[in-house]
Amino acid sequence: MFNEMNWGKKNRMSEIIQHDGRALMLAIDHGYFMGPTRGMEDPAKALEPLLAYADSLMLSPGILGTSVPISFRGGKVLRASGGNSILDEDMSNEAVILSAEQAITLNASAVAISIYVGAEYQHQTLMNLAQAIEDASPYGLPVLGVTAVGKEMKEKAADKRFLALSCRIAAEFGADIVKTYYCDGFEEVVAKTPVPIVIAGGPRLDSYESILQMCHNALERGAIGVDMGRNIWQADHPAAIIQGVRGIVHDGLSVSEALDLVNGLATDATRRKEYFPAHPEDARVQEKH
Ligand code: R5P
Repeated sequence: MFNEMNWGKKNRMSEIIQHDGRALMLAIDHGYFMGPTRGMEDPAKALEPLLAYADSLMLSPGILGTSVPISFRGGKVLRASGGNSILDEDMSNEAVILSAEQAITLNASAVAISIYVGAEYQHQTLMNLAQAIEDASPYGLPVLGVTAVGKEMKEKAADKRFLALSCRIAAEFGADIVKTYYCDGFEEVVAKTPVPIVIAGGPRLDSYESILQMCHNALERGAIGVDMGRNIWQADHPAAIIQGVRGIVHDGLSVSEALDLVNGLATDATRRKEYFPAHPEDARVQEKH
């Protein structure tokens, strides 16, 4: 951000934001604090039917190294902050877990750093972002700022004033892209954030229509795309819903057109296989994120 964008940085950004100015990022980094999250227990298997439809993956370095085919030509946004688990009461106690040099070695398109505004470790997480931006700058490596809410501030994910505060701080620090949640009044969050915004999906919604409607609303109100995880790979038909989301992000489909597409693709052949029974305690713990 602070360096004029050189060819390398523009090229990396273009692996995330496509020619049409839009981005379909598939977020599978949840394991960095949630472990083997339902639907992503075996990342290689879960990814296989989805890779063709994602412009880029947001993931941890260990999952890139073990579970993504070497032939994958999409963008790679590597999680670079962490250091806690879903069992912690306060999840904001994060540090930088991946250096810019390591990220470059892995051919990263960008690194992602979470900030926990208003949380106990707010300052530390903001300094993580500042440090990562400074370290990434000489390499022309973009930084994605993630506005995290953690467990205890979960209701903040629907608060436009909180989200605008967090997004703006990330942009002020020099994040190249910001990832946040969709909320009522989202256009205000976008207007107050002078860098591109992508939305997270959050916990699994109850219908394909709700997912598509959220994506459509976000784009209509100024998001450049999505960085979505559970609402795709925990869905009953992951390959169907990702194509519906793609239709909205890149092909200008309406919600009903995208829903027709998803319903047509939602067959036994595209149904997600449950390899392991869900443990009730896991579901309870994971709902908190
Ligand atoms: C945290 O788990 C990660 O940063 C995720 O990438 C983010 O929450 C987006 O995933 P989801 O759409 O499942 O909320």
